[in-house]
Amino acid sequence: MDLNEIRRQFPVLDQQVYGKPLVYLDNAATTQKPLCVIDRERDYYLHENCNIHRGVHYLSQMATEAYEQARRTVARFINAKESHEIVFTRGTTESLNLLATSFGTESGKWKVENSPLSTLHSPLKVLVTAMEHHSNLVPWQQMVQRCGGTLLVAPMDDRGVLDLQAYEELLKQEPTIVAIAHVSNTLATVNPIKEMIRMAHQYGALAVIDGAQSIAHIPVDVQELDCDFFVFSGHKMYAPMGIGCLYGKTEWLEQLPPYQFGGEMVDRVSFERTTFNKLPFKFEAGTPNVGAALGLETAIHFIESLDRREVAAHEETLLRAAIDRLSAIEGMRFIGEAPERSGLVSFIIDGIHPYDLGTIIDKMGVAVRTGHHCAEPVMTRFGIPGTVRASFALYNTLDEVETFVKAVNRAATMLR
Ligand code: ALA
Repeated sequence: MDLNEIRRQFPVLDQQVYGKPLVYLDNAATTQKPLCVIDRERDYYLHENCNIHRGVHYLSQMATEAYEQARRTVARFINAKESHEIVFTRGTTESLNLLATSFGTESGKWKVENSPLSTLHSPLKVLVTAMEHHSNLVPWQQMVQRCGGTLLVAPMDDRGVLDLQAYEELLKQEPTIVAIAHVSNTLATVNPIKEMIRMAHQYGALAVIDGAQSIAHIPVDVQELDCDFFVFSGHKMYAPMGIGCLYGKTEWLEQLPPYQFGGEMVDRVSFERTTFNKLPFKFEAGTPNVGAALGLETAIHFIESLDRREVAAHEETLLRAAIDRLSAIEGMRFIGEAPERSGLVSFIIDGIHPYDLGTIIDKMGVAVRTGHHCAEPVMTRFGIPGTVRASFALYNTLDEVETFVKAVNRAATMLR
C-alpha cells in the first residue's frame, strides 16, 4: 500500500490548522473523500444532471441507467441476491427510521404472512444492545412507545463485550426484531453478528444490523450473514454525504408498508386509493440524490481498487500502536476493551474532562471527537460524561498516531 499515493487522492488532508499539519482522526464521524468521488459527483452535475425514472429524453434515461447501475454495484459489494433489495436512503439514520416506521404501522400488529420464520409476535418487542448509537435505539424506542410495545436491552460487560447468555434469555421473550450494531461507534467492539443473527432466527426474530461503523473496514456478505436487514451510510466509506442504503431480504421488503409517500413510489393513484410501485421504488419517494449515489458507486470502486486485507492490516497496526502508546499515559482509562475491536480507540484520563482534552489537542492540529458520541446510555453504563475518541481510516499514518499521542500527553500535562 503506497500511503503517499493514497493521501494524494485526499487533498483535504494536506492542510494546516492553527499553523500545524492537520491530523484527521475523526473518521468514525465521517471519512474524507478521494478525488475520484468528488470528480464523479461534479461530472454528474456538469454533464448528466437530470431527474430519473421520469423522462423519455436522453439525459433522463442516461441518469436513470447510471443510478440503477450504482444500485447494482452496491448489491454486488455486499452480496445481496437482488439489486431491488437495495433501497437508497439519506444514510443509516434514515434507513433505521424507515424500518421502525414501517414495522410500527398498523399499531404494531404488523406480521409476516407465510413466513418461513415462526410467526412474528405482536405486540411489538424490539431487542437492542446496550451499546447502540442513538440511531439504532431512539427510532425503535419511539416506535414501541407508539405501538404499546416493549424495548428490551441486551447488556454488556465492563470491557464492552455483549453478554450472549443474557441476549439468549431476552430472545426467549420473543422479540419481533433484534437491532444490533456490527461495530460499536464508541467502544469499537466487533459484535459476533453472524452468531447473534442465527440465535435471533432460532427464536423467530428478524435481525437488523447497523453497519455504519463496519462497512468501511470489514467486508460484508449479507447472504452469508443471513441478516434480514443491513444498513449503512456512504459518508463513512469515502462517499458523499446524503446517501446511504437499506438492504432488506425481498420477502420482508415486499411485505413492509411504504415509509414516505409521493412521486415515484406509486403505481396507480386516484382520489379514492393508491397502489404502490414495486421494489425498491416503493421506498424511494421523491427525487433521490442521484449525484451522491454515483459518488457512492465510485467510492466502492475506490475501496475495491485496494487490497482490503492489506488495508485492514494497516488500520489494525494504527489501532494497536495508538492503544500501546496511549497506555503509557498516567491516568489513562480505555472505554471499550473487547478482544475484537475495529477502527477506533475511546478513552478518558483521570481528572480531565474529555472536552477540554479535545479542545487543546485541536489547537495542535489533531481532530478527534469528544463527548457521548450519540450513545448516551453507553456513557451512563460506564459512569462517565464522555470519552475522547480517535478513529482511523486507510489514509492515516503511524506518524499521525505519534503526533496524536504526543498531543494527548502534552494536553494532559497542561490540564493536570
Ligand atoms: N455516528 C457518527 C459518530 O459516531 C456521527 O461520530
